[in-house]
Amino acid sequence: MKILVTGKNGQLGRSIQKTVNADTKIGNNQSPNEYIFAGREDLDLSSKSSISHYFDNNKFDLIINCAAYTQVDKAEQEIGLADQINHLAVKQLASIASNQQARLIHISTDYVFDGESDKPYIETDTPNPINAYSRTKLAGEKALQALMPINAIIIRTSWLYSEYGNNFVKTMLRLGRERDELSAVNDQMGSPTYATDLADAILEIIRHKKFRDVAQTTQIYNYSGEGEISWHEFAKEIFKLAEIDCKVSPITTQQYPTPAKRPRNTFMNKDKIVKVFNIKISNWKSSLNTCMTILKKQQ
Ligand SMILES: NC(=O)c1ccc[n+]([C@@H]2O[C@H](COP(=O)([O-])OP(=O)(O)OC[C@H]3O[C@@H](n4cnc5c(N)ncnc54)[C@H](OP(=O)(O)O)[C@@H]3O)[C@@H](O)[C@H]2O)c1
Repeated sequence: MKILVTGKNGQLGRSIQKTVNADTKIGNNQSPNEYIFAGREDLDLSSKSSISHYFDNNKFDLIINCAAYTQVDKAEQEIGLADQINHLAVKQLASIASNQQARLIHISTDYVFDGESDKPYIETDTPNPINAYSRTKLAGEKALQALMPINAIIIRTSWLYSEYGNNFVKTMLRLGRERDELSAVNDQMGSPTYATDLADAILEIIRHKKFRDVAQTTQIYNYSGEGEISWHEFAKEIFKLAEIDCKVSPITTQQYPTPAKRPRNTFMNKDKIVKVFNIKISNWKSSLNTCMTILKKQQ
């Protein structure tokens, strides 16, 4: 397969590159897949003509869309741009994939839910986004499903972190070294997801027979690390593993107002992806440990 991965400089895009390179090195990559990684400089999702132009000259068997407008607070102001990248560009990618008879794996978010459920979310629960970013992501999901009733997969993930780019883990490490004390929200619950684990899961799906079977109905799958925690617990564990002596005080969402509202509890049930593709779900603490070990080596 000729596989396009968008968002090559983002957390997930870089994690997929790392995993593909590691697989090639140890000789696991027996399938004759050719990966092309594209960044905004190659394929600008904010421009309809850039997208058309790129695919006029390139044809793929599979598109993995890791690019997105991910600035949750800024999206409240830049709703037009967020909608173009997270919704209209996804619609265009779905239309192109359909015309090229390519498959599409698209990444979405737990934030499509309002977070008010007391049970873990399953894929068929009704979304109810509560901020601009999440509304654009849901619109992207819906446009994709309408244009590609077959041959696509949407993976909803949550609280992504990695050794790349900006994320909660790296921010906490920086702040924890600068300060003796800081606060973190303890009434928003979710599951941290190590981007390398998600990259591994995506590559596992691609290798799976069920993915390769023709004309599979388009499906949504939940994927995150295992465990349900607050940002406060997450910060405490980061400092513990990094041996940083910084006190973390719990605060409420009300005490930490942000431009975009956040869902209260987005814990997702992962049974479907485990059952269909035999995907292993890693415990959030062990994955955090793996990421922190890599970050330590980079210091
Ligand atoms: N981060 C999270 O906590 C989280 C949680 C749930 C779901 N997700 C979803 O998971 C996916 C991957 O997230 P991530 O954390 O890897 O995101 P990320 O690190 O912010 O990377 C997003 C990538 O999209 C690219 N991009 C932005 N605008 C673009 C444009 N106009 N044209 C082309 N590329 C553009 C960025 O390019 P530049 O590098 O050039 O800016 C960046 O490389 C996204 O779909 C996101 O919505 C993320």
